[in-house]
Amino acid sequence: MKRVVIQGLGFVGSAMAVAVASKLNNDGKPLFHVTGIDLPSDVGQERIDCINSGEFPFETNDKKLACELKKAVDRGNLRAIHDTNAYSRAEIVLVSINCDLVKDNGNDAINLDHFTGSIREIDENISENTLVIIESTVPPGTCEKIVYPLFKNAFNKRKLNINNFYLAHSYERVMPGDEYYDSIINYWRVYAGINEESADRCEAFLSQVINTTDYPLTRLNSTIASETGKLLENSYRAVNIAFIEEWGRFAEEVGIDLYEVIDAIRMRPTHANMRQPGFGVGGYCLTKDPLFAKIAAKEILNLDGHEFPFSSKAVQVNDEMPLVTLKKLKNHFNGDLNGINILLMGVTYRQDVGDTRFSPSEIFIKKGRSQGAKINAHDPLVDHWDEMNMDLKTELPDSTDFDAIVFAVPHKEYVDINLNEWISNRRTLLFDANNVLSKTQVLEIKENGLKYMSIGRG
Ligand SMILES: NC(=O)c1ccc[n+]([C@@H]2O[C@H](COP(=O)([O-])OP(=O)(O)OC[C@H]3O[C@@H](n4cnc5c(N)ncnc54)[C@H](O)[C@@H]3O)[C@@H](O)[C@H]2O)c1
Repeated sequence: MKRVVIQGLGFVGSAMAVAVASKLNNDGKPLFHVTGIDLPSDVGQERIDCINSGEFPFETNDKKLACELKKAVDRGNLRAIHDTNAYSRAEIVLVSINCDLVKDNGNDAINLDHFTGSIREIDENISENTLVIIESTVPPGTCEKIVYPLFKNAFNKRKLNINNFYLAHSYERVMPGDEYYDSIINYWRVYAGINEESADRCEAFLSQVINTTDYPLTRLNSTIASETGKLLENSYRAVNIAFIEEWGRFAEEVGIDLYEVIDAIRMRPTHANMRQPGFGVGGYCLTKDPLFAKIAAKEILNLDGHEFPFSSKAVQVNDEMPLVTLKKLKNHFNGDLNGINILLMGVTYRQDVGDTRFSPSEIFIKKGRSQGAKINAHDPLVDHWDEMNMDLKTELPDSTDFDAIVFAVPHKEYVDINLNEWISNRRTLLFDANNVLSKTQVLEIKENGLKYMSIGRG
């Protein structure tokens, strides 16, 4: 059994730990012994304790992930700790920690100090012949200009041979949600090595974890290319979303249904992934990744003239999206939100996922409250909203006292609500900010004369 150590047991590392530990040989024996390492902080300890007790540390609907975790813990080939000595026994180390965007004197910056500090914990401990795979989203140049020199320096000090060290980058496309586990095992992967031998070893490892028959791996020529791939992928999506914003405003003003228009356009295979108007863009990745290349160009690669204006503008437009809904509500209530009772339906950054990081609902609620609105929130997947320190209703509350109910996240539970039964007060405005309600629900709203507004529809 190969020993794999995973640094960071967050949304990515925990799921990857389960995926790797679930792999069995033809005799049903595990291929890997997996040790997950997290920090000895409250959050880190909670994640460690969860995994060791056979529970996934995050709310998930994916039964496969939960089941594979339990099986691996019971079999004894998955455990979680915070002792960094474990790196010394690893043959493969996966780095799945966060690399955060921070504000430095009002400017966007990347917190590389934490990232490099974490790499030091590995380079001080690993043995020769270890393969280190960076899975974190990092600025282009990180592996070549920062990580490899750190290992070189440490190996030099520890009198180890750097030629017996292998470094690769392979970014994650894991998608928390109903198919969390499959989004690792049954999905395409990109990778690159710092040299040929590193790339070969990374390929050999990924081939044992991923279903490469149906989802072949893509090898890129350098780690900078792989690091750039992740950022370009997410920037493309962020720009595509931001681009639709101005069309949404137009559609509302001119009285057309932009979702219908977009569905018609999506029939063309070249336009099949066109985005649609919505409430906002959140989550840990799309809110930061489009800004990484700009920073890396200057700070790591020493290049001038790469400002990435589209990517930067996309982040700004997407950040401001939830304020459009707020502005429309304000107009509806005669320009004054003071004392208006609002129920926000959905606080996670994505449907059917319990992750509230950088959620547009947070921007909405903070701004709305600053204008005097009284905002309560409901989410079927969250009973405590950490970022807002708010207890939430997971059952549908009595709707009587709400002046407006804003559907912000298309959780599947919302499509089952019988609005006519739930809405007792005919002056309550139903605001669909994210194409959440089904055609049947919208018809029901109209037939019963309920008040209705939407983003992207006139
Ligand atoms: N969340 C996603 O859906 C997703 C998808 C693709 C890629 N990514 C990328 O993957 C990386 C991880 O994302 P995440 O969502 O899992 O982040 P996260 O914040 O949920 O998890 C990071 C974990 O690493 C731990 N950690 C930090 N420093 C450590 C150290 N020195 N030793 C051990 N543990 C340490 C933290 O305590 C935390 O538990 C990021 O670069 C992110 O951009 C995330």
